[in-house]
Amino acid sequence: MIAARDGGRRVALVPTMGYLHEGHLSLMREARRRVGPEGLAVASIFVNPTQFGPQEDLARYPRDLEGDLAKCAAAGVDAVLAPERPEQVFAPGHQTWIEVGPVAQGLCGARRPGHFRGVATVVMKLFQLTRPQVALFGEKDWQQLQVIRAMVRDLDLDVEVVGMPIVREPDGLARSSRNAYLSPDERRRALALSRTLAEAQERARAGQRDAARLAESARAALASAGARVDYVEIVEPESLQPVARAAPGSRMLVAAYLGTTRLIDNAALP
Ligand code: PAF
Repeated sequence: MIAARDGGRRVALVPTMGYLHEGHLSLMREARRRVGPEGLAVASIFVNPTQFGPQEDLARYPRDLEGDLAKCAAAGVDAVLAPERPEQVFAPGHQTWIEVGPVAQGLCGARRPGHFRGVATVVMKLFQLTRPQVALFGEKDWQQLQVIRAMVRDLDLDVEVVGMPIVREPDGLARSSRNAYLSPDERRRALALSRTLAEAQERARAGQRDAARLAESARAALASAGARVDYVEIVEPESLQPVARAAPGSRMLVAAYLGTTRLIDNAALP
């Protein structure tokens, strides 16, 4: 891939942890489109252990390499980087980590200590291994996208970071590999996340700008649907600093548990 870039071919990378769904495939099709027929659309599939906490779902994270490779091919991907063992990426003795500042510290960063350090470090390594000019990430992981943008800016990386819209199920649930964990009842209750965001957008449109009130209504709606709220915050979309009043573009981010499954979702307020 280094040869591809050095040989003048454009390279686009879609980093994933596999168990691919329509959200990933939309990134891959866009990668294909951006590099054109002569370029190289690359996907990586690597369940990165360094971004999981000790009590998290690393061991049961869903995997389907064979199915994923077929999906990548159908989406127009030319090459897949799929390390078989974690040590191929994080060799014994690995001791260099990327710590992004405040943008990585609230929200999921506060609830999942070390998560964004693992994400930023593996993404940096994937950039080094594949040398893309363009890398595509889904907006469902809004904070992750801002963390990666900050890393790229601060370390002067020569990569254009593209965020792609959240892909949803017909009923509104954001596509996520972790949806596979949900029982039928949890799957039904998980709709509360997207519904709550839509209600907050409605309230904001109707003139409610007080962020604490918007967040409070959202927490109550999630709880009454049987979701255990991890956080609901309204933030400035790039710095992710909390806002007191929702302005156009402010982002509401939610994280909630359905049973033991933690889901996240977000939306811009109008
Ligand atoms: O979004 C993900 O699937 C992962 O966090 C990423 C970006 C592939 C890094 O492991």
